[in-house]
Amino acid sequence: MHFLIHRLLAIGLLASAIPGVQTHSIDKPAKLRTIVTTDMEQDDLASLIRYILYTNDLDTQGIIYTSSRYHWAGDGKGTEFFLPGREYNTSQTSWRWTGTQTIQDKILKAYAKVYPNLRRHDPSYPTPNELLSKMDHDTDGSNLIRSLLLNEDPRPLYLQAWGGTSTIARALKSIEERYSASWQWPRIRDLVSRKAVILASGFQDETYVDYIAPTWPQIRVEELSAGYSTWGYNCNQGQGNTRGLPDDHVYFTGDWIRANIEMGPYGKLYRSWLDGQSMPGDPEDIFGNITKASSPTAWCKPLGQYDFLSEGDDVAFNPLLTTGIQDPSNPNLGSWGGRAKQNTTSPDLWGMVETEKAENGTEVENYTTNRWIAAVQNDFAARMHWTITPEYRKGNHAPSVDILNGKSVKAYPGSTVKLSSQVSDPDGDHVTTSWWQYFEEGTYPGAVTVTANHNHGATVKIPADAKPGQTISVIVQGTDDGHFPLTRYDRVFIHVV
Ligand SMILES: *[C@@H]1O[C@H](CO)[C@@H](O)[C@H](O)[C@H]1NC(C)=O
Ligand SMILES: *[C@@H]1O[C@H](CO)[C@@H](O)[C@H](O)[C@H]1NC(C)=O
Ligand SMILES: *[C@@H]1O[C@H](CO)[C@@H](O)[C@H](O)[C@H]1NC(C)=O
Ligand SMILES: *[C@@H]1O[C@H](CO)[C@@H](O)[C@H](O)[C@H]1NC(C)=O
Ligand SMILES: *[C@@H]1O[C@H](CO)[C@@H](O)[C@H](O)[C@H]1NC(C)=O
Repeated sequence: MHFLIHRLLAIGLLASAIPGVQTHSIDKPAKLRTIVTTDMEQDDLASLIRYILYTNDLDTQGIIYTSSRYHWAGDGKGTEFFLPGREYNTSQTSWRWTGTQTIQDKILKAYAKVYPNLRRHDPSYPTPNELLSKMDHDTDGSNLIRSLLLNEDPRPLYLQAWGGTSTIARALKSIEERYSASWQWPRIRDLVSRKAVILASGFQDETYVDYIAPTWPQIRVEELSAGYSTWGYNCNQGQGNTRGLPDDHVYFTGDWIRANIEMGPYGKLYRSWLDGQSMPGDPEDIFGNITKASSPTAWCKPLGQYDFLSEGDDVAFNPLLTTGIQDPSNPNLGSWGGRAKQNTTSPDLWGMVETEKAENGTEVENYTTNRWIAAVQNDFAARMHWTITPEYRKGNHAPSVDILNGKSVKAYPGSTVKLSSQVSDPDGDHVTTSWWQYFEEGTYPGAVTVTANHNHGATVKIPADAKPGQTISVIVQGTDDGHFPLTRYDRVFIHVV
């Protein structure tokens, strides 16, 4: 992998050294392989608008419509279904089903309009037809998932469940049906269990509990709905817009969203409060219409026009986004998706941690996702700005920051560790670095003193009571001074010896 990165870097340097080269090659790690399954509620749509702006960094192998307890198509024959504990109380032939065309007919058509601009900023954006081909399968979505789990590709397959896990469960079930009687079954089950990672935006149907957990106990499943406190419905029953940490409320206001996100041929499809839009087929989608949204029976009191509404399904892909410290193979480590922890009674199941220590030493609820908001929202806005900006030099592009000591260093208790980093920025922006201890990532239980110097470096004083075997995680973050300041990170683990 290192070889590949260096090669790409060399190509990147080469391209920028040749005058007149229009596209900008970018140093990138190997792309993560992923699939999106979505019930296309309006907040899935908003999440998809964001997700597609990150398809330059991810290997998206499928985008699949799926049902959930909130949205289902029925059998197409008019059969009525009733399942208890749902939003309805009489039998229904389908429920809040938004169809299977919105992505192709609206989102990808808008993407096609802005793709020429996007590729100026990063040539690795997939073409509109490539994205469309991830939706047009000659078989159904579960067959696609099954074949990707069984094919030669050794990379993990991150299966994002934005709706229910039913389509993923169906794929696993068909693998079980085909191989469970075969002598190869133990090997195939192991292989699939190692490859499949389920990133679930809550459990929106029963298939995890009823089938996946008992039959595939080795598959890692992350139930990430705790991240809704940051990214889910912003309906505070009249308390106003209270998303995120106080300093970050601006990123959820109508003024900010209207100016920076819900604009241009692509961004205008994004969804915010009272923006006049609604998903076809979903009578409960009242968020765009002031009359409907203000009705006394509406479950969510409206906020101001264009205020942040919901992008709940961001929780399923935020762990995959390239920040410099993302490591979806290890959910114990934080990044924009937050940190998760293993469930004590169901070890295959991971959930978000409830609190993390803020810089001032206090435990803060939902900090694991809230702490990144300014960086995450500026990154989204910068990319949305690319959609309307044909000139590379008029957009902002993320810096990179690398700790020169490597990923881990050894240190004695009581010693001082000198760390240095190198920053670069494709736009030549000034990059400001800061260093901090990510308390929960390390096993040393206390705070350590991290002192930054003026040359992108820092010293870390290892406490005298640190014990051999303990670890201290130190993060450097670099933020550029472009329009929509962009932030990237690197991490070093100090191993006490
Ligand atoms: C059915 O549900 C609606 C709201 O969804 C509620 O107003 C009504 O009282 C319910 N009817 C019964 C018979 O439970
Ligand atoms: C944290 O999130 C939970 C739900 O996930 C919510 O009940 C709680 O109010 C949130 N706390 C803060 C301080 O945001
Ligand atoms: C908003 O909802 C009201 C009440 O259902 C309806 O009369 C009106 O036409 C809707 N407005 C728009 C712009 O769709
Ligand atoms: C573990 O998972 C179960 C559901 O399988 C859940 O009820 C419980 O709260 C979880 N425990 C922890 C510590 O997350
Ligand atoms: C500590 O920082 C957090 C996060 O910024 C903040 O919410 C909290 O109020 C602060 N607590 C104190 C005691 O300053």
